[in-house]
Amino acid sequence: MAEQLQTRPLGGALGLEVTGVDLSRPIADEVFDEIKENFWRNPVLVFRDQDLDAHSLAALGRRFGPLQLHVLVDYRHEEVPEVSWLTNVKKDGSVDEVGYKRATSWHSDGTFEEHPPAVAILHAKEIPSRGGGTLFCNMIQAYETLPDETRERIRGLTGRHLYAAGRGGNETVPLKDYQKGTLPEVHHPVVRTHPESGRKMLYVNDIHTFGFVELDGEEGETLLNGLLDHATRDEFVYHHRWSHGDVVIWDERATMHRGAGDYAPTERRIMLRTISFGERPE
Ligand SMILES: [Fe+2]
Repeated sequence: MAEQLQTRPLGGALGLEVTGVDLSRPIADEVFDEIKENFWRNPVLVFRDQDLDAHSLAALGRRFGPLQLHVLVDYRHEEVPEVSWLTNVKKDGSVDEVGYKRATSWHSDGTFEEHPPAVAILHAKEIPSRGGGTLFCNMIQAYETLPDETRERIRGLTGRHLYAAGRGGNETVPLKDYQKGTLPEVHHPVVRTHPESGRKMLYVNDIHTFGFVELDGEEGETLLNGLLDHATRDEFVYHHRWSHGDVVIWDERATMHRGAGDYAPTERRIMLRTISFGERPE
């Protein structure tokens, strides 16, 4: 029987619930095409009641492009290294009580790299009894709603990115000593064009962007803060409250995300994650 997709918007800005597909099984090309059509219009897709192991999650991620190995080796899945654990449970089974604070500043994953990823997938395996959501904001809407003079001002500007060097850089996982100095500063255009939809989007974030190549000190800082404050206004945000079995797929190029950081520090939170490279924006 052919699978029949249904969709339901989850808010005004972004977030689209998709039902009618079992992501743990191979997906027919025509069904995947339909998923992608929706995805290029709405950069956060939510699938409920799924049950994927690391192998099936990797297979799903590969449909969007080659998979990335996590920069932090300890987070890689033991059988499938392209899948990583996003967990606050340590190897000895105890809970990392500062885990709830990690990645709670707005960011897009891997913008400190020369070739940042395109698509990320998270799959909830264990969730706290309350809180622990993930917030997403829409960087296409953010760009399109900037005042004309700001759009003119940022045209042609280049963002400076370095691991955790931005104003929200303290709220992420610190690099291990052996990784320090291995990640040089990289540059990305502040306005990029989405390769599939052709729409322009803002490409800066709180954790890794710390300035502009073309603007010095205070002028750059004020502009960057203004762009980030604008992009994360409530009307551009979707707050995803996780249920066990949820799969959320988001476009790293067209969104920022952050952890809500609002669950009890001693509760377990375990997710599986893949990150895919795809078409690169201009
Ligand atoms: Fe992240």
